[in-house]
Amino acid sequence: MRRSLLAAVLAAALPLAACDEGDTTDTSAVNAEGRQLFEQRCSACHVATAEQNRVGPHLVDMFGRTAGAVADFRYSDAMANSGIVWTDETLAAYLTAPRTYIPGNRMAFAGLARPGDIENLLDYLRVVTAPAPD
Ligand code: HEC
Repeated sequence: MRRSLLAAVLAAALPLAACDEGDTTDTSAVNAEGRQLFEQRCSACHVATAEQNRVGPHLVDMFGRTAGAVADFRYSDAMANSGIVWTDETLAAYLTAPRTYIPGNRMAFAGLARPGDIENLLDYLRVVTAPAPD
């Protein structure tokens, strides 16, 4: 009797859980840890959600873009001539060790060392830097 009650409860709950996880259309569901990392480690120098430069260039639409491409930002020669295209892989390499990945670039940031931080940060940035649909 108890066993069948448990089974009934599970049968009712599981589809709901599955539905929750499968929902990829909700762009307001940003990675909370990534958001916190961005606010603590990047936002003093970067805006991710508007085309507005600070000490660093804005990051809107940065995935898939060539490094050094924000028109009204004055990059270092090292960044402007790097030829790097920003993908998950190149961003992870840069944000882990900015100075060794692009020697001579001007971003005064030591790098993110804690496991999982890069993944959370890029998860967050992928959502919030996506340009608004036309
Ligand atoms: C102290 C200021 C500062 C901090 C903190 C900082 N950045 Fe930067 N960032 C810069 C500057 C300045 C540049 C341009 C470097 C150059 O031209 O050599 C840059 C460049 C970049 C670029 C290349 C952009 C392009 O248009 O090619 C990315 C991506 C980036 N930063 C991401 C981040 C992220 C993510 C963080 C947080 C983990 C961060 N930065 C922290 C100042 C900063």
